[in-house]
Amino acid sequence: MASIARSSLRVRSVARLPAVRAMSTTRVLRADKPFFPEEPSGPKVVTAIPGPNNKKAAAELNEVFDVRSMNMLADYTKSVGNYIADLDGNVLLDVYAQIASIPVGYNNPHLLKAAASPQMANSLINRPALGNFPSADWASILNTGILKVAPKGLDQVFTAMAGSDANETAYKAAFMYYRQRERGGPEVEFSEEEIASTMNNQSPGSPQLSIMSFRSAFHGRLFGSLSTTRSKPIHKLDIPSFDWPQAPFPQLKYPLEEHAQENAAEEQRCLQEVERLIKEFHNPVAAVVVEPIQSEGGDNHASPAFFNGLREITKRHNVLFIVDEVQTGVGATGKFWAHDHWNLQTPPDIVTFSKKAQTAGYYYGNPALRPNKPYRQFNTWMGDPSRALIFRAIIEEIERLKLVENTAITGDYLYAGLERLSQQYPEHFQNLRGKGQGTFIAWDTPNRDEILVKAKSFGINIGGSGASAVRLRPMLIFQKHHADILLENLEKIIKQ
Ligand SMILES: Cc1ncc(COP(=O)(O)O)c(C=O)c1O
Repeated sequence: MASIARSSLRVRSVARLPAVRAMSTTRVLRADKPFFPEEPSGPKVVTAIPGPNNKKAAAELNEVFDVRSMNMLADYTKSVGNYIADLDGNVLLDVYAQIASIPVGYNNPHLLKAAASPQMANSLINRPALGNFPSADWASILNTGILKVAPKGLDQVFTAMAGSDANETAYKAAFMYYRQRERGGPEVEFSEEEIASTMNNQSPGSPQLSIMSFRSAFHGRLFGSLSTTRSKPIHKLDIPSFDWPQAPFPQLKYPLEEHAQENAAEEQRCLQEVERLIKEFHNPVAAVVVEPIQSEGGDNHASPAFFNGLREITKRHNVLFIVDEVQTGVGATGKFWAHDHWNLQTPPDIVTFSKKAQTAGYYYGNPALRPNKPYRQFNTWMGDPSRALIFRAIIEEIERLKLVENTAITGDYLYAGLERLSQQYPEHFQNLRGKGQGTFIAWDTPNRDEILVKAKSFGINIGGSGASAVRLRPMLIFQKHHADILLENLEKIIKQ
């Protein structure tokens, strides 16, 4: 138990790391240099959390802004790399990273440079309404950024502002595509009846079509996306919703190796139900939307065979296959896109993204997914070039430091450490999942919420998902020495 054997190691300075390396059984990997030498050498906890300054600032904020969902109030001027600082001098190793949305570290120097560029200043103060007045450099910003990392087979993008927005616009594209096919093609005009009925929210102009999602899925909290979200009632209560179907998502048993047959049967059962719903649901299914790993809903995984099955069924029934990579995309699973793990024969029809991209939107390949007329998929901003410039800088940083590879390697190292912990403390590390999925790792634990709070006093900022999972969502710059600090403190937290 290499990392646990090092549990006597306290938070230490970078200067002492060589001695640690010499002890390590994974010497080759631990010889990795820190990407950011200016990062703190470890967490620092100097007060109870929240401390007096944080409490005072939170009370002030509460006068004008609802703070009931607040996790911690941060000082971003003092946060560096993987470390988030508060107002009391506490510095925490951040493996939650703004709900999985910081890719290359707080105050990343390359991003700071991009932020200070004349091009950025120009796009910030002259924000274009992209659908009407795109800037002369918009094509180049897209080609050197968002589209440079487009999933295989998809070469077009519709830009948006957040994950929910990306999904909703993708759903709209799916519905328009569905009706266009029914109508007989893009050149066929809308009928008088369609035009009249849509103004009364009636079919055929506003048709009773549906998007299928999965039980415990999360696709956002805006109106349309909310109807596909099935993770927690609190997201949905009081909000009118569409009559759309949900299919069961496989509930796999762990360790996977010990339940291979059972799990394969479970996935088959879910696929059969998907197909049955597509055939029988009263509101025809225009698209199926799925997360590669159900994230907010509890870190639920399924095998590449399941996703290949979904692709096959959707293709056979002419239903679009939308992969929601809002949380899984941009490197966290050790591949740039999580669906790259599946080796699909044909790409998804649409892939949505946000979070670590710091911008949002959906990729597609089929030109028929562009609506047949302008303004059908439109809003004032349609995304934001300054955010697209930041994504471009993020991509450059990912390439410079080989951060997808880093996440795959660090993830394996971290998973191995967690596996050892789960053998030693099986009651605290149940259903460990995410093997081979970079740092996208989770496990179930009793008293999860208590553990998350306690972690702060050990200098670790960590999140949960679903009812009982601890989820790790570190940044792509998370390295083995960070993993050691995390593993060492996780052990302390459960032993306390
Ligand atoms: C898979 C997935 N889709 C969509 C969303 C919604 O994104 P946003 O909160 O940016 O609207 C989230 C947010 O957590 C998500 O995890």
